[in-house]
Amino acid sequence: MLKFGIIGTNWITQQFVDAAVESGEWQLTTVYSRHADTAQAFADKNHAAETFTDLDEFFSQGSFDTVYIASPNSLHFAQAKQAIAYGKHVIVEKPAVTNQREFEQLDAVLAAHPDVRLFEAARQIHEVNFKRVKEQISKLAMVQGATLTYMKYSSRYDAVLAGEEPNIFSLNYAGGALQDLGVYLAYDAVGWFGMPEEVAYYPTLTRTGVDGKGVAILRYADFTVTLNVGKTSNSFLPSEINGARDAIVMDNPAELGQVTYQDNDGNAHNIGVAPDDNPMLAEARDFAAVINDPAKYQADYLAWRQLSRNVNKLLFNLRQSAHLTFTGETPATDE
Ligand SMILES: NC(=O)c1ccc[n+]([C@@H]2O[C@H](COP(=O)([O-])OP(=O)(O)OC[C@H]3O[C@@H](n4cnc5c(N)ncnc54)[C@H](OP(=O)(O)O)[C@@H]3O)[C@@H](O)[C@H]2O)c1
Repeated sequence: MLKFGIIGTNWITQQFVDAAVESGEWQLTTVYSRHADTAQAFADKNHAAETFTDLDEFFSQGSFDTVYIASPNSLHFAQAKQAIAYGKHVIVEKPAVTNQREFEQLDAVLAAHPDVRLFEAARQIHEVNFKRVKEQISKLAMVQGATLTYMKYSSRYDAVLAGEEPNIFSLNYAGGALQDLGVYLAYDAVGWFGMPEEVAYYPTLTRTGVDGKGVAILRYADFTVTLNVGKTSNSFLPSEINGARDAIVMDNPAELGQVTYQDNDGNAHNIGVAPDDNPMLAEARDFAAVINDPAKYQADYLAWRQLSRNVNKLLFNLRQSAHLTFTGETPATDE
């Protein structure tokens, strides 16, 4: 059994803990929270033995080998770096970093700790349907483009409208639609089509200065991919990858619940499988496999790292195209 600790005690951590336990590979031993009572409540609910409110003590005294980090975006880099320095494997929520310099710094710390593994928790790339779409793309006679839409009204936008500034809508915490739901779309685009040649992002800003929604255009050699992302309105559109007469149609490009190939004659073929009830189960299994047998799964691990590197670069380039900078950033010198 792999022992893990957690940073962040919101619902996404509970969902990951549930997936980890369901996989049969993981045991939660240690909970970090800024508040002792929050840590204790989470630990009690999930049968964890240890709680900490001090990060250094969490890393130095906690009896775990892997940390799952689900703190606000702007904290991921420093917490991941600290964890690696303590020799812990890291599963860090997306987005892992906010710029390439941070990614390279993590690479440097990893180089000094060659046995440590760092995973960006991009859950959908571990799911069968993500791979099915990729296989189907390779069978298309030609790709003419894609339109991927992920727009979900966030209950936290109510707080923005009420004059507050929740983390995910704050420049102080590297928030915004692109850094949230946009990460899934970036993983789709880069995972399925590779890195684009040219990108542009057209955001609609909220009162707090982040992109509440936006449209990204990714130009490839022979086609363009359009990403519609938003947290300030709902969209009920499906997403599609266009061949010539045929297309791949998805109910949602992050959830990938239903994936269909629409052939040249207009017939629809289901090419997906029913998704797991817990969408984090596949990644929990994959991360455990790499840690348990690093040599066997090294190629997978390196491919995920490369994808993560490219996705974070794409997100940064999109932000830069829209002159969207987070608190404390010096964008002109970041690339
Ligand atoms: N993979 C997925 O499906 C998925 C879904 C949702 C979110 N996420 C990712 O998960 C991460 C967390 O998202 P979230 O919406 O849960 O964020 P959040 O509510 O803003 O914060 C998450 C946790 O971090 C701690 N925290 C909150 N504010 C903090 C602050 N100012 N300083 C230090 N710690 C603070 C809190 O834990 P304590 O109070 O216990 O310290 C909180 O529970 C994000 O990176 C997001 O992209 C992923």
